[in-house]
This record gives sequence, structure tokens and C-alpha cells, in this order.
Amino acid sequence: MNIADDIKQKLDIVDVISQYIKLTKSGRNYKAACPFHSEKTASFFVFPEKQSWHCFGACGTGGDIFTFIMKKEGLDFGQVLRLMAEKAHVNLVYKTEQSSQEDHQKQDRLFKLNEVAAEYFHFLLLHDAEAKAARQYADKRGLSSKTVDNFQLGFALNKWEALSEYVAKSGYQIDEMLAVGLVVARETGGSYDRFRNRLIFPIKDIKGRVVGFGGRALDDSLPKYLNSPQTALFDKGSIIYGIDRAQGAIRQKDCVVITEGYMDTITAHQYGFENTVASMGTALTDKQISALRKLSRNIIVALDADEAGLEATTRSINTIDEQIPKDHWMPWSESKTYDELVKYEVQVVEIRDGKDPDEIIRNSPEKWAGLLRESQPIIDFTLKKEIDNINSDSSKDKSAVVSKFLPILSRIDDSIRRAHYVQKLARLLNLDERFVNDALFDLRSREKKYTTAKGSKVLKNYADLAASSRHIEEYCLALLLQYADLKDAGMKLSTNYFEHSENKDILIKWQDCPDANSIMANLDPVIHEYFAYLMSFNKQFPPSLSQNKEEREYALSDCINRLLERYVRNLEIKKKLILSEEKEKGDMEGQLAKLIEHGINESQQLHDIFKNRGSLFSRTKGV
Ligand code: CTP
Ligand code: MN
Repeated sequence: MNIADDIKQKLDIVDVISQYIKLTKSGRNYKAACPFHSEKTASFFVFPEKQSWHCFGACGTGGDIFTFIMKKEGLDFGQVLRLMAEKAHVNLVYKTEQSSQEDHQKQDRLFKLNEVAAEYFHFLLLHDAEAKAARQYADKRGLSSKTVDNFQLGFALNKWEALSEYVAKSGYQIDEMLAVGLVVARETGGSYDRFRNRLIFPIKDIKGRVVGFGGRALDDSLPKYLNSPQTALFDKGSIIYGIDRAQGAIRQKDCVVITEGYMDTITAHQYGFENTVASMGTALTDKQISALRKLSRNIIVALDADEAGLEATTRSINTIDEQIPKDHWMPWSESKTYDELVKYEVQVVEIRDGKDPDEIIRNSPEKWAGLLRESQPIIDFTLKKEIDNINSDSSKDKSAVVSKFLPILSRIDDSIRRAHYVQKLARLLNLDERFVNDALFDLRSREKKYTTAKGSKVLKNYADLAASSRHIEEYCLALLLQYADLKDAGMKLSTNYFEHSENKDILIKWQDCPDANSIMANLDPVIHEYFAYLMSFNKQFPPSLSQNKEEREYALSDCINRLLERYVRNLEIKKKLILSEEKEKGDMEGQLAKLIEHGINESQQLHDIFKNRGSLFSRTKGV
């Protein structure tokens, strides 16, 4: 996230724009007569959920909070950034290239500090006299010495300052130890080691850098596990334990198994199931799932059947946008995650009798392999669990199951998959398939009415588009900054296609004078660091781009095409939103006609984009 995003997150576009013009609520959006041209019907809209605005009238412009103020006050991007930063109480740090280099060095030192600590803990476990009980414990848990090495398991002495004293000798400051959470500050001043008398599990990112630690008590004392707090290096929502050692096997087997705990993952690896990782006891997050999906699309989740209550599942489905309390591990309890798990056809391994994978594997690796083979899609799993729990003679129970599952089935886009589950649901409940089908049909038509009325489906598309938008803009700018021979095509690029003001500002300055130094000189110092990042982006380019002019021309036109497509689609989505709201209110005359007129126009544009894409595509395929 850069500074512009940070500011945007802290301000509300409706508040800010309301200080200039009077907005009236229109459904979930706001409208007004456009402040940038004179008009009678209001065609200026503000979309709070997207934090953007658009005029569908004569001026046809739009943008975010920054572009609005720029236009309204006649200021440049840097000035608006300052103004808004003050409003949002965001501290503008003037980052020169040097200071951002310093930041990197600081971060590298923190990683190094964690590494030194991990090595120290590991050494203690292997060799220190005081670690005898810990070594016995590791033995008792069946950990081989190879496993202890592979996972760099360690031991923290039962002392208040053993680690801090050790790393201080290597030159690390208390501030740094605090920053990575290895020590805890005392209220009365001073600090002490966080991990004491515990078996230590270093937690590493995909690159193998130590981001944090987990520490297990050697007996039944509580808490059983103590983990690093959230730090600059340790982001609980995205960390996946074991990913550094599992990634190769995940790719190779094209499958990843997600367990709950450190011990489950370590034991799995010890017995050859090296494509195993752990969620570390929290609900799986979207971030974790999408990181894993980059390695393999085949995801198996090992669930504890007792805890992963179905109650929780269906609750999270019904209240899709509400946060579910996380009292115990419910891998799908994070909002929307269940939907994703269904969409991605995540498989589930059911674990019974309160055993965890660790125990099962140690008792019988064959049994575990069998369980993995028998894993089933999450819907089948939940369906079966639900049906096991009902009285098959009770029509009331059957009806309850059908109404619980229809909303899930309804969200499956693939009609064949949907039909499959209708069949299955009917069969399991001993019902005529037609009834289930009819009920689903009713629900879908009700939902359709609902989603078009509320525009929520439309909004979801928008969010998907927005997620990738920053990346395309960055890529596009990086190409232009790197390759002077793309100048002509870049000059023709409309700045309207850029959604993020800071990118738009850089594009405008580039079009003004496509020379990095002069752009830098004209840019607000606050975004120098970001600019430097764009300039260094070429490290991520494939080498073929530098070697082949045609290739980079293709890359740029692909970017531009995507930007255009996104631009047109966004407009259409916004328009559909407004249309559905106006329709609900029943006042649709002039405005509507105007919008539809626009709509036809833009669909033609979309058509052109696809045509264009087609020809680009055939070019790369050498057709
Ligand atoms: N966990 C945690 N803090 C706790 C309990 C659990 O962070 N107080 C996380 C740990 O990552 C742990 C995972 O949740 O590995 C699963 O918890 P649990 O099943 O209770 O522990 P196990 O990993 O099975 O550990 P053990 O076999 O040693 O009991
Ligand atoms: Mn366990």
C-alpha cells in the first residue's frame, strides 16, 4: 500500500465531496448535479463502496477523492495529497531514495536478527545441558533428529534475558528485539525475553526467511503455544507454516494439504507427506488460500470433525458479509471464505475421534494416505455431515436441509456441477429431484431479482476488477519508464484509464516529458519512493522484453487493452448499479434513456476490445 492508498482508506469520499456540493442519497450511492458542467438532471454520482465518483452527463469524467479535489480546486496531485494527508492525519514522510534504501537495510537487519535467534535456539536444543527435558520431549513426540534440523526446532532457556543478552552481543538493539517481538517491554521500563522454557518453532516465509516464532510449553502449562505478535515481518493473516519446505512438493504433486498445527505439518513431512502446511490454528484467510493457489489448485483441508461445526458453516453462509466470532477453529468462518472454498472445489479430509493428523500419521502413514485419497469436495463433506445429523423420517428435517443447501448450490456457477449437487441432495434425502430443482429455480429467480436490485453481484465483479487494476497500471508505467521505444504508443494512452491518482499523475508527467529525471523533479517528494519502485520494476520483467522490441510492444498493448476493458466495464457496472436503483424507485425516465444510450455505446467499445485481443492473441500464437 502506498501513501495515496493510506490516505484514501482513512477518508470517506462522501464526506469530502459533501463539503463542496450537496449530495442526495440514491440507493446505496449518492448523486448531485455535476459540479463540473451545468445541467438540470443530476448525473454526477458518488459510489461510497468503491470510493469513486463519475459524471454520466456531458463531461463523462470520474475518478477518486484526489481527482475530485484536483479538478475542483485546480491543484496538482502533490498539493492535493498534502491537503488530504492533513485531513486524514497521515504523516507524510519524505522518502528519498536513500532513506528507502535505509528502510530496506533496517528490514534486512530484522530478518537477520530473527535468523540469529533461530540459530541460537536451535543450538541450545541440540547441545545445552538445560535443554535436556526439551530433547526428551521432542523424542517423546517422535521427532527424528533430521526433522529437528529440517525445521530448525529450538529451545528457549528458562531465563528472563538469555536471548536478549545473546543477540545484544551480536550487536542488536533492544528496539530491534521489540520490533520482531522477541522481547516484551515491561511497563516499568526494561524488557524480558518473550519465549522462555519452550520448544521453539521458527516460522518462515516462502523465501525461507524467519518471520516469527511459535513456542510450545513442555508440559500442560498454559498457554500451550505462545507465538510472535503481529510485527512488520509477521503478518498472521498471510503466514503459512511450513510453506518454505513444502513448496517444492506442492508443485511436484500438484496438491497441498492444509493442517491445523505445527506438529501436524512437521510429522507429515517426516513421513514423506512433504506437501503439507499449517494454518496455525486460525481460520484460513483469503490471503492464505490465494497464496497456496499459486502453487497448486488442488487444496485439501484436514478438518477436525468435532470442532469444525457445521453450524458454523451454514451460519457463515447465511451471513456472508458478517464477521463470525472465532471461538474455535472453523476454517471457513472468515467471511466469504466458505464461498471461495466451494468455488475452488477445496477438498476436505475428515478427522474423527479428536485425533489430529500428527497422531494418525505416527500410528499409520498408510491410513493417512488413505484419508487423503478419500478426501471429498467441501460441499459433499458438509452435505454428508448435515444428513448424518438428521432424522431421515422427518419431513421437517429434510426441508431444513434443503433450505440450508439451496443457497450454496445456487452460488455454483457451473450448471453441470449445480445439477450434480441437486441430484445428490435429492438422492440423499430420498426426494424427487424435481422438487429440489424447482425450489432451486425459485430461489435463483428470487436471488436474481435481489442481486440486480441491490447490485451486489455487480459490485463483486467490480471488486475483482479493482484488485488487479493497480498491478496493470504499475506494469504499464514500468514499461514506459524502461523502454524509450514505447513512447509513441504511450503518448496515445488516455490518462482516464488510470484509476489510481498517483499513477495517473506519473503518466501525465511522463507524457509531458518522458525522462525519468525530469519526472522525478516534478513529482511530489512523497511519492519519490513509489516512483523508485516503478523504476526498479524492470527486475521483474522477463529477459525477452529487453531483447525483443515486438515483445515489449505486445506487452504494452496488452496492458492498454486491459486498462481500456476495465475502464469500460467499470462504467457499465456503475451504470447498472444506478439503473437498478432508479428502477426500484420507479423514476427512470430521462436519466435512464440517457444511460442506456451510453450503455450501448460502451458495449460496442467492449466488443472492439475483444476483437483487438483476438488479433493480439493470434499474433503471439504465430497464427
Ligand atoms: N495454537 C496457538 N496457540 C494456542 C493453541 C494453538 O497458536 N494456544 C495454534 C498452533 O499453531 C497449533 C495449532 O494452533 O499448532 C493447533 O493447535 P492444537 O491442535 O491445539 O495443537 P497441536 O499443533 O496439535 O499441538 P500438540 O500436538 O503439541 O498439542
Ligand atoms: Mn497435536
